[in-house]
Amino acid sequence: MKIAIGNDHAAVVMKNEIMEYVKELGHEVKNFGTDREESCNYPEYGEKVARAVASGEADCGILICGTGVGISIAANKVKGVRAAVCSDTATARLVKEHNNANIIAFGARIIGIELAKDIVKAYLSAEFLGGRHEARVAMIAGLEERFS
Ligand code: RB5
Repeated sequence: MKIAIGNDHAAVVMKNEIMEYVKELGHEVKNFGTDREESCNYPEYGEKVARAVASGEADCGILICGTGVGISIAANKVKGVRAAVCSDTATARLVKEHNNANIIAFGARIIGIELAKDIVKAYLSAEFLGGRHEARVAMIAGLEERFS
């Protein structure tokens, strides 16, 4: 898969390690994040990854900031994006299986690198289950239409 990754200053080290790990898993990864540890603005990087995913340039995305929250809130403003913060592997699997999340986010100040890798693996290995979940995901798209 083609994976877009993005981060702010809080997550440069973790981003680099996750990029290597994603390649080890056999995926392509494109870096949309900052490589500098000077303070910057996470919405910018959330938007870049969200646009790459929404346009089809990437199959899915990984976002990392201090908590994973700000950058995912920003990404979720882009139409077609379903970004989910994950701090455990069960959530990482379920956001793909049930919500068809096309971006996962986590916090470099919240979880360690080994858990971050496990979360990425759980998410990338999971498949959307469709069925009853299809209609619910369609309802989310409906909300986007009504409020755009
Ligand atoms: C940056 O200090 C921090 O606010 C950011 O990385 C993130 O945690 C925001 O949600």
